[in-house]
Amino acid sequence: MKTNTRLILSQPPEADTHPDLVLDRGKDGDGVRDWVWREKHRLLATYIDAARSAAKSPKFSHWIYIDPFCGAGRMQGRDESFTRPGGAMVAWRQSQISNASFDQVLIGDLDKSKVDACQARLAAAGCKVKAFQGKAEDTVNDMIRAVPPRSLCLVYIDPYNLSLLSYQMLKALASLPKVDFVVHFSTMDWLRNTANATNPAYPRLDEVSPGWRDRLSGVSNSSLPVALFNDWYANIEALDFQFAKAHPIFNNTQHEIYKLVFFARHPLPIKLWGDVAKEKNRSLFED
Ligand SMILES: C[S@@+](CC[C@H](N)C(=O)[O-])C[C@H]1O[C@@H](n2cnc3c(N)ncnc32)[C@H](O)[C@@H]1O
Repeated sequence: MKTNTRLILSQPPEADTHPDLVLDRGKDGDGVRDWVWREKHRLLATYIDAARSAAKSPKFSHWIYIDPFCGAGRMQGRDESFTRPGGAMVAWRQSQISNASFDQVLIGDLDKSKVDACQARLAAAGCKVKAFQGKAEDTVNDMIRAVPPRSLCLVYIDPYNLSLLSYQMLKALASLPKVDFVVHFSTMDWLRNTANATNPAYPRLDEVSPGWRDRLSGVSNSSLPVALFNDWYANIEALDFQFAKAHPIFNNTQHEIYKLVFFARHPLPIKLWGDVAKEKNRSLFED
């Protein structure tokens, strides 16, 4: 495969401007796994590069990046002696390198030390950044208010747990007229949760796909994982979005752990993501 030399991730990691500030160390605190930068951040950066001309069309007043689960902007990989840029920094630097800098970057995180660190790192890299501390389902409302009319927005939703992928949060962001989404959808969490889905003591999926219990009341337990996933798709499509083909991400034992899901209203971003995420491996749920 031809290497895109414009990609930020084709180069060695740039130095951290704030080595004294907090780092992301992964869900369990023992280091971020390599598929985060090899797959997730690579796809995000590749999409930003692919969208560079369209995003700077005179149709749009601004290109805005929205990241309500931003982390610290810098991460410690497992078993690595150096650190790497986090997703928001990869996105910002890619937009610069692709000559299509985001006009505004809106970041948020529940953890104040992380959102402050991410803001400091982005500002040091020349980014016009606004930071919001709090739960994503709350901060997105402030972010939406910060978006100027006629902007094109790229939303990156990257929570650790599926239960944080609140439908109400996505619905709020969907009020932006020109918006494209890259979403981390934890397949492993989905499978774990669907095993207990019909037990009312496990309410986690109700936040993700409200109303599924009524719509899927006749579905057998063994069919639930696929049926629930399709139900979530239908709920997102009801907000007037189309999906591109999801990109499965595998761990080192070749188990699918999550999908990067992309949805948009316009056919061009759907096509661009389709080109970016061409994937030979079969997904757990073929869609
Ligand atoms: C997977 S990490 C983010 C990694 C980052 N997006 C990247 O690509 O480098 C998830 C982040 O979500 C934050 N978080 C957890 N619960 C949250 C919530 N309810 N709202 C917003 N952020 C939350 C955590 O503090 C953590 O920094």
